[in-house]
Amino acid sequence: MPAISFTEVTKVFDAGKNTGTDSGRPAAVRDVSFEVEQGQFVVLLGPSGCGKTTLMRMVNRLIEPTSGSIDVEGREIHDIPVTELRRHIGYVIQQVGLFPHMTVAQNIAVVPKLLGWPKSRTEQRTDELLDLVALPPAEYRKRFPRQLSGGQQQRVGIARAMAADPAIMLMDEPFGAIDAITRTDLQDELLAIQRKVSKTVIFVTHDVEEALRLADRIAVMRTGTVVQYGRPVDLLTHPADDFVRALLGTNDVFRQLSLVPVRAIMESGQLSAGKPDITVQADQNVRAALAVLIAHDVQEAAVVDKSGKTIGRVTLQRILDEGAHEVAEARAPDTGT
Ligand SMILES: Nc1ncnc2c1ncn2[C@@H]1O[C@H](COP(=O)(O)OP(=O)(O)OP(=O)(O)O)[C@@H](O)[C@H]1O
Ligand SMILES: [Mg+2]
Repeated sequence: MPAISFTEVTKVFDAGKNTGTDSGRPAAVRDVSFEVEQGQFVVLLGPSGCGKTTLMRMVNRLIEPTSGSIDVEGREIHDIPVTELRRHIGYVIQQVGLFPHMTVAQNIAVVPKLLGWPKSRTEQRTDELLDLVALPPAEYRKRFPRQLSGGQQQRVGIARAMAADPAIMLMDEPFGAIDAITRTDLQDELLAIQRKVSKTVIFVTHDVEEALRLADRIAVMRTGTVVQYGRPVDLLTHPADDFVRALLGTNDVFRQLSLVPVRAIMESGQLSAGKPDITVQADQNVRAALAVLIAHDVQEAAVVDKSGKTIGRVTLQRILDEGAHEVAEARAPDTGT
């Protein structure tokens, strides 16, 4: 069962309010259908105003769809009491939105408090989450938001959204206001957290590199519609139209492959032909893996995790399948065929 399914979801703000008929406004979200599998990290990618926030906020009913339906774990969202729905879904808003007069620990404990958790359980959970987002509890628990950097505030925002252990996380440009270096760190941490707790995540961004680094699936949005939904490599190598092509800048496929982690194109199973000593890290990028294969003149390499355990394989064929088409096109644009 998918974690979330969107079926022909449309949102027209103020539909019919002016004249009692159609307001004539364009739809902010139009006829969107796609499914998010359990545990998947899905990025909504698109330019400002294309409807990303609107689509996301319909999932936890902060915005009501004009038509269409959204199912969360097989139930239409209107069949679930809204408090239960929101408890099940963590939400990180664009501006962190920490309460300035509360400490870090109090901020994280907001939802547990609303749920009436005993103090000891709340404190334990708060410390656990601070550890998870790499803020040592002893040092950060009692600080106020103004005593934190922007990146640290974001981490607290994420910890707060995860407090009641929701199965689903909605994250609206959580790293939008953060410098590039800290942003990369936070992306790495988020991926590490995701691997540990495997939530279903919908993550909004208009940053292509961020989308490529984080996503299992990307939904590219343009003026309210989803124009392509697929794996990052699919979007890079088979963009649905010129808009997707331009957005992803797929004419530089090597640069783009350098953003996609090996785990995204990893295949299962053992190496078919010897040389188990040649390995690539799952977190390395595909371009680096290609370099390893070429340097050792092999067709495939084992993919290992951080502890060195083999978790799959990466093949030259697969990398070429993903990239060759575009490389060929970029090199010979005027063959006239
Ligand atoms: N409450 C509202 N009332 C009327 N129109 C709205 C409302 N909220 C959003 N819109 C309009 O709906 C469209 C989509 O807005 P939305 O906030 O979903 O875009 P976005 O993709 O999240 O953009 P950004 O990247 O700038 O955050 C925009 O044209 C916006 O002006
Ligand atoms: Mg937005």
